[in-house]
Amino acid sequence: GLPARVRIYEVGARDGLQNEKRTVPAEIKAEFIRRLAAAGLTTIEATSFVHPKWVPQLADAEQLFPMVVDLPGVALPVLVPNQRGLDRALALGADRIAVFASATESFAKANLNRTLDESLAVFEPVVRQAKDRDVHVRGYVSMCFGDPWEGPVPLHQVARVCKALRDMGCDELSLGDTIGVATPGHVLELLNLLNEEGVPTNMLGVHFHDTYGQALANTYAALEHGVTTVDSSAGGLGGCPYAKSATGNLATEDLVWMLHGLGIQTGVDLGRLTATSVWMAAHLDRPSPSRTVRALSHK
Ligand code: HMG
Ligand code: MG
Repeated sequence: GLPARVRIYEVGARDGLQNEKRTVPAEIKAEFIRRLAAAGLTTIEATSFVHPKWVPQLADAEQLFPMVVDLPGVALPVLVPNQRGLDRALALGADRIAVFASATESFAKANLNRTLDESLAVFEPVVRQAKDRDVHVRGYVSMCFGDPWEGPVPLHQVARVCKALRDMGCDELSLGDTIGVATPGHVLELLNLLNEEGVPTNMLGVHFHDTYGQALANTYAALEHGVTTVDSSAGGLGGCPYAKSATGNLATEDLVWMLHGLGIQTGVDLGRLTATSVWMAAHLDRPSPSRTVRALSHK
């Protein structure tokens, strides 16, 4: 059956903005995060402490994070790729981090400049130090369903990385469909295999990109399986319309429309959220790709 409540893990300020062509000033990012919180989102991924040359859109993490760190009642996880990233995040008082692994060698190389096993070896002491300080740790696994270089990804390969992150001490995992190729049956196969391999559903979140228009169908399948954490980005931010491998996340508004229609609580005020995405679209100088944002803002 379906859950009574879903925890929306909002990634627009990080996954969204990291992929937008236009770089947004820190003040606007902070205002975006404040507006997301005012719309009722309680988990808002704020930024990444990665190398500024790799992700110039988030090079202002030191400036931004202190501007939002005191938002009451809001968890503000940040991405951390290695020891340097952890040190930067802890220095600013972050109490939630996310490490990000890949189910494939090709993306580990492209995203972290390491082999898959090298990247896991980098994460191990990072996760240990975080847990020693009671910092909450999410472990992302990218390319769980398909990879732009390798094609379809064997399920056991995903399970291996999930188990490694669980064994390191990650509190939760997020299953990333980075290029948006998954379909609902595939999602259920992966969730079933993970359960068989001892990875419980209650530590799993789903992270769908909407490249092929499957993100909501995939979410529904995951909810029926028992997943209650869903990643999405306000307005469907992110992605370049020309690169198949970099399409935007599932839009939070589309997700909320479906969940509320199903009678599932989210705590989100859809009107305020839509207004926030319309406001951000003006700063990015492009309309939101979210169908729900378009429908609600043209009334
Ligand atoms: P590297 O070049 O191999 O780094 O990059 P290195 O360890 O060889 O160090 C080189 C230099 O970088 C050194 O400086 C380090 O100090 C510095 P130097 O001594 O030469 O002056 N450095 C750093 N500086 C600032 N912050 C740091 C840091 N680390 C090293 N954290 C590295 C390796 C991991 C740093 C690089 O590959 C990187 O930053 N990658 C980040 C990529 C990224 O952010 N990708 C997007 C997030 S993942 C995602 O979006 C997927 C997700 O949404 C789920 C899904 O959809 O699948 C989560
Ligand atoms: Mg993503």
